[in-house]
Amino acid sequence: MRVLERVCPFCWAYDRRRRESVRANFEHCASRREALLKLGYDQEAAVRFVTGSAGYLEGPILDVGTGAGHCAVAIAKLGHSLMTIDTDGAQIGKAKLFAEHYGVVDKIVFRKRPADAMGFAPASFASIISYNALHHFEKPYEVIDELWRLLRPGGVLIVSDLDETGFAAVEKMHVAEGKTHPRLGATVTEAAAHAGALQGCSASRRQGAHQDVLIMRKST
Ligand SMILES: C[S@@+](CC[C@H](N)C(=O)[O-])C[C@H]1O[C@@H](n2cnc3c(N)ncnc32)[C@H](O)[C@@H]1O
Repeated sequence: MRVLERVCPFCWAYDRRRRESVRANFEHCASRREALLKLGYDQEAAVRFVTGSAGYLEGPILDVGTGAGHCAVAIAKLGHSLMTIDTDGAQIGKAKLFAEHYGVVDKIVFRKRPADAMGFAPASFASIISYNALHHFEKPYEVIDELWRLLRPGGVLIVSDLDETGFAAVEKMHVAEGKTHPRLGATVTEAAAHAGALQGCSASRRQGAHQDVLIMRKST
């Protein structure tokens, strides 16, 4: 593209429009992050806490419910390559723009798939992570079962969601934007109870940065 851009006015115009979209998306994300910070939720600290909650993330890595891409981009910025899935094409588009801003889009594969039926082979991933998506899942237990099926023996599954202060901040931001923020799925406590019945699962919890993190390790 870069070479063509010098000679082709259409390529040049496309590239300029793309750069403008990347900039506009980043500014939108930055203004939401600022709004959340004023409401007591530090999104960057939260993502750092969650991505670091189980130590080093072995690949292959899967990010589930990628949304605007905060968690996926943070993992890619650590130098990892990863697979991501989400059902919302518009969100995937935003996540790609966000990744482009940080120069890590080539490290991330984006797929449009439902989390309860992703179609990957069993034991495809060594680390699976889901940040602030649990309360969006209509079928949270089916999702956890699917993630467990996709996890390799010896692998780690991290499912994290907002604590009550975090939920309050996100809800206030949505109201200020004229939207609502429904809670459909399970709580982390309910997910932890479900994890207790998974074969070969040793589960622990960590709280910090207004995140409630469930860490599930699969025996070898
Ligand atoms: C608030 S976002 C999560 C934040 C995101 N992980 C990040 O790092 O920015 C929640 C996402 O979950 C996605 N989602 C909801 N139900 C889903 C499902 N069944 N399968 C896959 N993605 C789903 C939504 O489309 C939305 O993009």
